[in-house]
Amino acid sequence: MSKPRVFVTRMIPDGGLALIRTACDADVWPEELPPARPVLLEKVRGIDGLLCLLTDRIDGEAMDAAGPGLRVISNHAVGYDNVDLAAATARGIPVGNTPGILTETTADFAFALLMAAARRVVEGADYVRAGRWRTWGPMILLGHDIHGATLGLVGMGRIGQAMARRAAGFGMRVIYYDPYFDAATGAPAGAEGRKTLDGLLAEADFISLHVPLTAETHHLIDARVLAKAKPTVVVINTSRGPVVDTEALYDALAAGRIAYAALDVTDPEPLPATHKLLALPNCLVVPHIASASWATRTRMAVMAAENLLAGLRGERLPNCVNPEVYERDSSVASLHCGTLRRTVRRSE
Ligand code: DGY
Repeated sequence: MSKPRVFVTRMIPDGGLALIRTACDADVWPEELPPARPVLLEKVRGIDGLLCLLTDRIDGEAMDAAGPGLRVISNHAVGYDNVDLAAATARGIPVGNTPGILTETTADFAFALLMAAARRVVEGADYVRAGRWRTWGPMILLGHDIHGATLGLVGMGRIGQAMARRAAGFGMRVIYYDPYFDAATGAPAGAEGRKTLDGLLAEADFISLHVPLTAETHHLIDARVLAKAKPTVVVINTSRGPVVDTEALYDALAAGRIAYAALDVTDPEPLPATHKLLALPNCLVVPHIASASWATRTRMAVMAAENLLAGLRGERLPNCVNPEVYERDSSVASLHCGTLRRTVRRSE
C-alpha cells in the first residue's frame, strides 16, 4: 500500500522528521524561509497531511488547494492563530498543536528577558564591546531591582503560571489579569491576586504577556493601556506580536512614557532591520526564540509528528484544538465552536 503523502513546511528536528519519513511519503521544504504563498498552494495539492509552522497561513484557500484528501493539519507550535480553525472544522479536518512541553522553556526565556531588561544586560555587553568601559563607576548602567518588584502577568495559563513560580523564587510580588482563569481552582502558586487589567497596570513594575492571539487580545496592549501603566514599567512579550499595538508601543517608549520593552515577538514579524523600534535604546528585540532549546524543539517536533501520524491513521489527535470535528454532527457545531474559539481562548 502506498504511504500517505504529506507536506512539511520546514526542516524540523530529526526526532520528529524521522517518524514522519518512516511512515509517509514526505515532501519537506528545505529552505530557511517559509514557502511563498503560491508555492505553498502548489505543494499542498493532493496531500493527506500537512505539518506547518506558525509562519504559514493555513486558511480555507490552502485547505481547498490541498483537496478533499487532507485529513490532518499539525501545527509545530502551541499557538495556532496561523490556522483558520473555523475553516478546518467546517471541513472536518482536525488541527493539532504542541501544548505543555514548551511551557517551562518559554517561561525561562520570558524571565531571562525580564532580568536582562531590569539589569541592562544587553546594554552592558554593548558598552564593553564599544570600548566604553574605562573604570568601575558608581553611576554606570544603573537598573532596577527584580526582588521586591511587582510582576503583572497578563494571561494565567500554563506559561503565566510557570512565570509566577519563577517570580516567587526571586522574591517578586505577582498579580495577574486573566478573565478565563478559573478562580475556583485557587490562586496559582506564587501569585497573590487577580486584578482587572487597569488594576494590574496601576501596580505592575513588569508586565509579561502570556495570552493567545485572538480577536479579543489583538492590540490588547494599546495606547490607552500604555498610558495607564507606570512610567517605570517594563513590558515583556513572548506571546504573539499583534497582542501589542506596535505604533503605540513605539510612541510610549520614544516619549519615555514607559521605561522599556523586551520583545521576543513583534508585529510585523520578522521586524525589518530598519524598523524604528530597533533604533530605540530602551527596546530589546530577539527573534521569536522563547521555546528554542534543543530539548524543547525536539519534543515539539515529535509531538507534531505524532499528531500528524494519528490523523493520517484516522485516530484522534493526541493534542487536538478543534475536538468538535469528532462530534457526530460536526458540520453544525463546528461553525459555532470555531467562531467561539477564535474569540474566547484560554491562555497557554
Ligand atoms: C509557539 O509554540 O506558539 C511558540 O510561539 C513557538 O514555539
